[in-house]
Amino acid sequence: MLKTLDYRIFMTDGSGDVTPDTLNPDSACAFLEHGGIIYFHGTGWIRALYFTILISHTILAIVIVPMVLITLTRGLREQFERHRAIARWTFPIWLYVSVTGVVVYLMLFQMSG
Ligand code: HEM
Repeated sequence: MLKTLDYRIFMTDGSGDVTPDTLNPDSACAFLEHGGIIYFHGTGWIRALYFTILISHTILAIVIVPMVLITLTRGLREQFERHRAIARWTFPIWLYVSVTGVVVYLMLFQMSG
């Protein structure tokens, strides 16, 4: 089993260079064959920050699904008092999950090396 997986290698001919000449047409297949796991290579405080954001993002991404459904249901049923009560939590959590999803993506692909 591979210990260190590098996204760039799957997407190119193996050189790691991302240019039109090195793009591998089978990249999607190779990526899936290797399980699609991409490791974060950063160390020190950036690693701690990355996993703090990743874990909180993952947990809240699960929690937000029923919250959105309940918020939506209460709104559509015109139970506005109850809708407001949960919407105060749903909205900021949903925003956090959305923003941290992009942050995790950027940290993994732009800062991880
Ligand atoms: C997931 C979907 C939704 C979210 C995240 C959401 C979020 C919110 C938020 C944050 C507020 C302000 C709460 C406050 O004042 O503290 C609010 C108020 C309100 N929402 Fe929604 N909402 C959603 C869907 C809906 C739907 C489907 C309806 C109606 C069809 C609706 C109708 C209203 C109304 C009328 C208020 C004002 C209630 C009041 O001030 O008494 N919402 N919503």
